[in-house]
Amino acid sequence: MSREEIRETLIESLGSWTSGQRLARSLKISRAAVWKQVQSLRAEGYEIESSKRGYRLESLPDIISEDLVKSGLKTSFVGRTIISHPSLSSTNAEAKRIAPSADNGTVVVAEVQTSGRGRMERPWHSPKGGVWISVILKPRIPPTLAPRVNMAAAVAVARALEGLYALEVGIKWPNDLLVGERKVSGILTEIGAEMDSLDYAVVGIGINANIDPALFPQVWRATSLSGLLGRDISRLKLVQRVLEEVEAAFEDLESSFDGVREDWRRRSATLDRRVRIITRDGEFEGMAGALEADGSLLVRRDDGRRVWVYAGDCVHLRPAANPVEEGV
Ligand code: ATP
Ligand code: BTN
Repeated sequence: MSREEIRETLIESLGSWTSGQRLARSLKISRAAVWKQVQSLRAEGYEIESSKRGYRLESLPDIISEDLVKSGLKTSFVGRTIISHPSLSSTNAEAKRIAPSADNGTVVVAEVQTSGRGRMERPWHSPKGGVWISVILKPRIPPTLAPRVNMAAAVAVARALEGLYALEVGIKWPNDLLVGERKVSGILTEIGAEMDSLDYAVVGIGINANIDPALFPQVWRATSLSGLLGRDISRLKLVQRVLEEVEAAFEDLESSFDGVREDWRRRSATLDRRVRIITRDGEFEGMAGALEADGSLLVRRDDGRRVWVYAGDCVHLRPAANPVEEGV
């Protein structure tokens, strides 16, 4: 416990000195014991200076631990439990494993993923410096409305990036967040369901935060926040904001969905564009017309048929006269 109290005291007086004697006295432990706990905090990544004046925490460490995320987090249920790992194969895999017995809003986070996944089992590059989290959500909606969860998460992350960094964030259906035409974040929602009820949704959010964009192959058309802003960002603040926005968007899932839908529409890089849709059943081209209340994409096919698309790949095409792919 004394380690926790020392950590909290140093955070409260961030940037100023706290004497070892004061810490020892208020915690009723020896100064040597204080020193030992400070060493263990340093090993965790806390930069703590020591001098004759005592101890001083220089800055909050850039680690996404439960304690740090929770301090100052303004949510009522998202992030009340945070399970953080230095490394996981995939936060989604771990979240799915624990989801049946986990509380609504539980978060799994890893500093690196060794086998991060995008849709259709595609590999998702997840080095140190990124934000790789999965949120377990238990909305009371039927499985037919599950696409809403993915849309709500995309809107939530877009709002967080815009609010924190004033970036204009577009959404490419179904799950890519773009700045310009480059992908800065991807979302993978997986569900566990009965015939008529959703047991849980695991919302996997990957954000390329402090990563050198040169690490991404050109064909991915990927970018990162540090690449866009020319500086590293606080991943901690980003995670807190994302969780707050996820909670705010969650409220809309069980009600009209109008707020999320309107925001999604406004940010969409896909609506009113010619698209090629590739699903398990085949592919076709047409105009992306609307995002429906259940989260599906309405596409008007070239043969006049209207199709509601719930899952699949979407390629943005140039206007019909010049149907050259703009890349995925
Ligand atoms: P779509 O645009 O239809 O979503 P996609 O090709 O982007 O299709 P996804 O399943 O959304 O496919 O994302 C997985 C793909 O993203 C990978 O196959 C790879 O090309 C790319 N990718 C992998 N890691 C990252 C990353 N950290 N940032 C951006 N792109 C990545
Ligand atoms: C995509 O664009 O295809 C979605 C990428 C989703 C990546 C995130 S990172 C956290 C979570 N864990 C995973 O293995 N995938 C998601």
